Order: sequence, then structure tokens, then C-alpha cells
Amino acid sequence: MNDVFDPRRPEVMADPYPIFGRLRTTNPVCWSPVLKGWLLTRYADVRAALHDPKLSADRITPFMDSLPPARRVALSGLERILTRWAVFVDPPVHTRLRGLMNKAFTPRAIERLRGRIGAIVDQLIDHIAPRGRMEMIADFAYPLPATVIAGMLGVPEEDIERFKGWSDDLAAFVGGAQATPQKYERACYGLAEMDTYFRAIVRERRNSAPKDDVIGGLVAAEEDGRVLSEDELVATAVLILFAGHETTANLIGNGMIALLRHPDELAKWQARPELAESAVEELLRYDSPAASVTRVAKETVTYGERRIAAGDRLFLMINAANRDAAVFMDPDRLDLERSDNRHIAFGYSAHYCIGAPLARLEGEIAFTRLLARLDDIELERQDLEWSDNLVLRGAKEIPLRFKAR
Ligand code: HEM
Repeated sequence: MNDVFDPRRPEVMADPYPIFGRLRTTNPVCWSPVLKGWLLTRYADVRAALHDPKLSADRITPFMDSLPPARRVALSGLERILTRWAVFVDPPVHTRLRGLMNKAFTPRAIERLRGRIGAIVDQLIDHIAPRGRMEMIADFAYPLPATVIAGMLGVPEEDIERFKGWSDDLAAFVGGAQATPQKYERACYGLAEMDTYFRAIVRERRNSAPKDDVIGGLVAAEEDGRVLSEDELVATAVLILFAGHETTANLIGNGMIALLRHPDELAKWQARPELAESAVEELLRYDSPAASVTRVAKETVTYGERRIAAGDRLFLMINAANRDAAVFMDPDRLDLERSDNRHIAFGYSAHYCIGAPLARLEGEIAFTRLLARLDDIELERQDLEWSDNLVLRGAKEIPLRFKAR
């Protein structure tokens, strides 16, 4: 059977795992006419590709190079920011940017957020609990990471509503499965707004006393006498904002859906809160919010039996890899006590997610407190609508009913 993975189809977005399973077995490195690139679905191939120096993380330059000159000028705002994102550049530029970012994302800096995250979670639940129902994304999963990131970046919490609009504009470009022409203009608009917003903050920070937050850390970061330029600082702030909130929101959303579809596991976690650490790892493996990442071949490479030509795009399907029976026993089962869980939900190698410790902390605190304070949680509807996004996997809305304890 010649299976075609078509992420534009709602039933595939709702449950891509059956087709991932078939592709892994019958056609693990296949050309996708829909995506115009190669789809890799086996764990070993995806992990190897994430570590392959012959593959580039820069998919912005080839895209820009393919545009007619006038269009390129029209989208120059997009190019200015995205070509400076650590996630889209290769060494040596990546090594320098990442080294400087690491100085602001120290384990101590993240651990210091524990109390603040707990307070935000409690406040959100206090607000929701008496109602007996919530739309989980808007009422809880989104505001939590957005508020945490606003605090990390040292920007006012009232601005998080604006962040959401700008990020949505950008998300359609970064991972949108639909080739709508407006998505480039929308991304450009969102980025221009973020550029203006963060440029003012960066300028103000560079001229004032250092503050103990991530922007402060980035402004102060220096390695071998080199610092981040203003454009790099702005791009990095935008990247942190973008990479850090929708992913974490979808960890909470996808995780809750998985738990509600496995009531025995949910009951087990409620009875044994000490499972939080392994449970969050399993939710990340079972239905990761970062469903895929893209690379471009710098030279001819071979994956599986396939020769992939220089310039071709590769879609590394993280969520397919995380269900590979060659690595995970009984991979389609949600097992909150799974040991040796070597999932790649946060990527692997040089671009490994810098926010992984923060996302884990937010996930653990959020679920621990939700499960301690809410009982009889139920989905109000089973037919959830999933985003048509290849990279950011999540349901658009999750209506829930529950009893407050
Ligand atoms: C559950 C939540 C999250 C998931 C599943 C996730 C997933 C990922 C993945 C798969 C990558 C690698 C991309 C690639 O190789 O092309 C990545 C990179 C990155 N993530 Fe996350 N992420 C999450 C949360 C966060 C948070 C909370 C932040 C920051 C506050 C963040 C910031 C970043 C940054 C800056 C990079 C680029 C690192 C580099 O290129 O060196 N992420 N993330």
C-alpha cells in the first residue's frame, strides 16, 4: 500500500500515529509529494539526522533565495529576525549564539522559578475551580507558560495577550501545513510587531543597570570578548517567546487529553503524585508538542536506502520516532512508569531544547496541582479540533468538566 502522509487532512492531524506506524515499517524514508521533502519516521534515522553535520538547520536562507527579488524585499523583516534564530543556524554561528544563551539559561536560574510557577498555577486554578468547567488551553495551558516567560523576559504580564496574536501569526509560517499565501504576510506582521516591542526593551536595558532576568542575562552575556548584537538580542528574545509558550501549553493540553483517554493511568498518578517526573516524560514521548523538525541537506546523504540530494528538505518526525518499537516497548501504550524513556521530544545534539528543564518543571507543577485539586475530570467533547501545524502539535480547544476537591 502506497501511504501518503497528508498533514492537511483533519483526521491525520487528529491522529497521525496509524500512518506513522505504517510508514515506519514499510517506507521509513519516503518522499512526500505533499511536503515536497523526505519524511523520516524511524527513531534511529531521526536521531542520526539530528546529529548529522551534512544537514543544515538553516531553512530560512534557501526559502529567501527562492523568492523573486521584490518579494524578498517585502519579507525582509522576516529574514532579519529568523536568520538570527539559534534554531535556524549552523556552527560556528550557532555555537556562539548557543554559548551566550546558555549563560542566561542556567539550571539555577530555572530552579529559582519553581516558587513563581507554583504561585501562577495556584492562582489559575483558584480562578477556574469554582466554575466546574474550563477551556483548558485558554484558561490554563496558555496563560501559565506565557506568564512565566513574561517574567523571565522582564516584560509586563498584561502584554501576554499581544504575544499570543503575534506568535499565532508566526506559527502558521514556521509549521503551517496549509500553503496559504497570506501566511507570509501574517508572519511578517507578527515579527515586525515583536521586533519593535523587543528592540525598545533591549535598548532600554543596554542603557540601564543590569536586571536579573533572561534579557538581562543575554545583554550581559559575553564570551571571548564577543556579545550579542542588538539584532541578535531582539531575535533571541522573540525566539524564546515563540519557542517557549505554545510548546509548553501543548504539553499540558496534549498531556491532559492522553490522561483522559487512559483513565487508569490518570487514577494512578492521582493516587501517587511521586510519579510526576516519569509521568511528564511519558506524556512528552506519547504525544510531543514539537511533532517534527526540518533540516536541509548540504550535500548528498543516504538514509535508509535512499539517496537524498543536496538542497532537499528532510522532515524529522519526532512523534513517529517516539513510537518506534525498536526502542520503546509497547510504544503505543501510555505508561506513566516507563523506565529508560529515551524520547527525543526536545530534539537531540547541538540544537537540543534549551528550555527543556523549564518545560519539565512547568509540566510537573501544573499536573501535580491540577490532579490534586480537581476530580472526575472529563472531556466535554470527544471531537477535538487539532491545529493544522506540522511542527506545533496541539488541540485548538479542550473543553473540560470537573469537580473541585
Ligand atoms: C514541552 C515544551 C517544549 C518542547 C517539546 C520543545 C521542543 C524543542 C525541540 C524539539 C527543539 C529542537 C529544534 C531543532 O532541532 O530544530 C527545541 C529547541 C529550542 N527550544 Fe524548545 N521545546 C519546549 C519548550 C521550550 C521552552 C519553555 C523554551 C524557552 C523558554 C524553549 C526554547 C527553545 C530554544 C531557544 C531552542 C533552540 C535551541 C538551539 O537551536 O540551540 N523551548 N525545542
